[in-house]
Amino acid sequence: MKSLTIHPSANLQGQCRLPGDKSISHRALLFNAIAEGEARITNFLPGEDCQATLGCLRDLGVRVEQEDATTLIVHGVGLRGLRAPAAPLNCIRSGTTMRLLMGLLAGQAFDTTLTGDEQLLRRPMERVAAPLRQLGARMETTNGRAPLWIQGGPLNGGQVEIAVASAQIKSALLLAGLYAQSAVTVVEPGPSRDHSERMLSAMGASVEKNGLRVTIQPAARLNALSIQIPGDVSSAAFLIAAAVLAPHSQVKLLDVGVNPTRTGLPDMLRNMGAQISIEDAHMQGGEAVANIHVQTSQLKAVTVSGETVVRMIDEFPIFAVLATQAKGATIVRDAAELRVKETDRIATTAEELNRLGADVTPTPDGFIIKGPTPLRGGEADSHGDHRLAMALAVAGLITSEPLTVTNTHCIGDSFPGFEGLLRGLGARL
Ligand code: S3P
Repeated sequence: MKSLTIHPSANLQGQCRLPGDKSISHRALLFNAIAEGEARITNFLPGEDCQATLGCLRDLGVRVEQEDATTLIVHGVGLRGLRAPAAPLNCIRSGTTMRLLMGLLAGQAFDTTLTGDEQLLRRPMERVAAPLRQLGARMETTNGRAPLWIQGGPLNGGQVEIAVASAQIKSALLLAGLYAQSAVTVVEPGPSRDHSERMLSAMGASVEKNGLRVTIQPAARLNALSIQIPGDVSSAAFLIAAAVLAPHSQVKLLDVGVNPTRTGLPDMLRNMGAQISIEDAHMQGGEAVANIHVQTSQLKAVTVSGETVVRMIDEFPIFAVLATQAKGATIVRDAAELRVKETDRIATTAEELNRLGADVTPTPDGFIIKGPTPLRGGEADSHGDHRLAMALAVAGLITSEPLTVTNTHCIGDSFPGFEGLLRGLGARL
């Protein structure tokens, strides 16, 4: 089992680029696969999760050439060009792959089975299957989870209200909407990331947004879209936190995606008193991109709730590490979704940080973190969760003794090259 030992570090300096955004990489592949024409995707995230999407699309008959690890040429097969796979599609540990495919495959002229690793087979899938069934989709879950069986066929239009603010559920419904007999409207309880809406529109689909409602019209075709994927702000979060926490640090992260549906963490950090600025913002392929400048900062506690939770849903393990060093009681609520991520992130984050001497009280929908508390080194475990693994590694920069994080293979799910980038900024690991 792979592990990573981090030594207390200071003086992180320099600038770097992040691997491509995971959410946008999945979508660039999936949507171009069913478009007409050829698309070149650069700065594609070569992480395991996106490789899962690539593998499934190849099994569905899509030809994708790989110029190098981060440059792909997708030969679109058109909306009706996917072929029945010979075997169940393996989504590995990628929730996004499975949930978006559920929407895409519901309207095909063939049946599919979706499966994945043990970690993915524990995650809830009825939250996607049930709203898709409202459009007439035929699919069965295994006690609410994968493996899933999808009987492809015609879909109806209509309005579907979803119970959680989730871009995965919304995107599955929008993909189904491309194949439906009339318009599909999705109504969300809160504003989740909108990469699907932006990209599908740029590819020629008719997508209309009105507050928390988004309507897609059935499509005759999508046009291939070549795109350069922005750096992943959710990966940047770990380097931002490293620079905030390690003494005497100053770091610049280049070309990071700063879509406002994703920037909850930098916004909260600013409220906590961190010196962080977003510079040179510009649009690139329908998404906002900017440089993020950050330096060592003293933090004060804040409360995170409501829509901000959705805007930083993947950042809570690293946010919890930051909160252990903030003065006062940081409160996170309305974040029960964290319990159904790669792990139950409320339980696993609290357990591992408390082991290091933090004061984290888990609650049903979040945590209360009292700080600042010194952290000790020793050993911490990722529980197989990539974001917890990296959060703990960053905590190791400020522990009193070296910290060994076990089970770190999973970092490659979303952030291949994490160790090298951190080392390049001067961290000792
Ligand atoms: C994602 C949406 C979020 C996020 C996940 C990626 C996406 O999940 O946690 O890492 O690409 O649509 P939910 O839609 O379940 O909130």
